[in-house]
Amino acid sequence: MTYPDQPFPGLSSEKEALFAAAATDYACYRPGLPAEAVRLLTDTLHGRPDPTLLDLGTGTGQVPLALLDAVPGLAHIEAVDVSRPMLDQARAALTPLLGRCTLTLVHTMADVYAPLTPLPNEEVRAPNLVTFCRSYHWMSGPDVLAMADRVAAPDATVAIMGDGSLWTHQADWTRALRELIQRYLGPRRRAGAHGTYTEPRRPYEADLAASAWSDVTQHRIPVARTWTPKDVLGYLRTTSFAGAELFGERHTAFEADARALLDAYAGGHPLVESTVFTLLLARRPAGAS
Ligand SMILES: C[S@@+](CC[C@H](N)C(=O)[O-])C[C@H]1O[C@@H](n2cnc3c(N)ncnc32)[C@H](O)[C@@H]1O
Repeated sequence: MTYPDQPFPGLSSEKEALFAAAATDYACYRPGLPAEAVRLLTDTLHGRPDPTLLDLGTGTGQVPLALLDAVPGLAHIEAVDVSRPMLDQARAALTPLLGRCTLTLVHTMADVYAPLTPLPNEEVRAPNLVTFCRSYHWMSGPDVLAMADRVAAPDATVAIMGDGSLWTHQADWTRALRELIQRYLGPRRRAGAHGTYTEPRRPYEADLAASAWSDVTQHRIPVARTWTPKDVLGYLRTTSFAGAELFGERHTAFEADARALLDAYAGGHPLVESTVFTLLLARRPAGAS
C-alpha cells in the first residue's frame, strides 16, 4: 500500500521535483550496497522474530532490495520518500520479490513520518532496523533521529550509510569531468535547479552522540566500482549536481562533451572508482529505557 493519498503538510515540492526527474535513470544507474554492508545490516536483525525495516529516503528501494534477498524472514518493509516517482520505481522493483513480506510505501518527508495507527487487534510493527542510505544529509538530522527513537523497537539499530559521489571522487577522469561540469554550470557544486551544495552541518557521529542513538560503531568498507562512459552519463542525470534540468538547452551539448572526455580517459577499458562506503550502526546505550 502507499499512503497518504495527499502529501503530509510540510512536504517540499521543490525537493520532490528535484528527485522526481531522476527516478527512472536512478533505478538503472545508481550503485547498490556493498556485500559487506548488507552482511552487517543483516547481522543486526539476527534472532529478531519477524523483523521490520524502516528505510528513510528509500529512492528506488536499494536497501529493501538488498535485505529482502539477505533476510529471508523479513516480515515488513516501511519505505519512506518525498518523491512519488521514486516510490513508484521502488514498488516495481520490490513487489515481485516480496513473498510473505509486506510493504508500505509512505510519501512524505522522513522528518515528519509517523506510522499509521494500527486497527484494533492489528499488530504494531515497530521497526527493528531504521536505515538512511545516501539520504541522511537531505534531512533534518536531530528531527529524524528523534522520530526514529519514537517509532523503533527497544532493541532497534539505526544505520546511516553512504559513499562519496563522482563529484567528490579523486581520480584523473573524475577531476576532468568535474571541471567540465563547472565550465557549464559555474564553479560551485549545484544542488538542484535553484540551490548550491553546503557541507553537512556537523559530522553524523556528532548528531548520533547527541541523540538517543549514542552507542555507535563505524565501519569503513573499501569499494572498487567500474563504469562505462555511458553509465557515467546515466548516473550524472540522477545527481543534484549534474541533472539534465540544470543544463537546460545545453544538456545535449554537455553530454556530447562528457562522452568524448570519458571515452578518451577510458581508452576502451572500464573507468575505475575506488571509494569507501561508510556505515554507522547506532543503538540506544545499554540501560536506556
Ligand atoms: C540519493 S537518494 C538515495 C536513495 C537510496 N536510499 C539509495 O541509496 O539509492 C536520496 C533519496 O532521499 C529522498 N529524500 C530527500 N529528502 C528527503 C526527506 N526529507 N524525507 C524523505 N526522503 C527524502 C529523495 O527523494 C531520494 O529518493
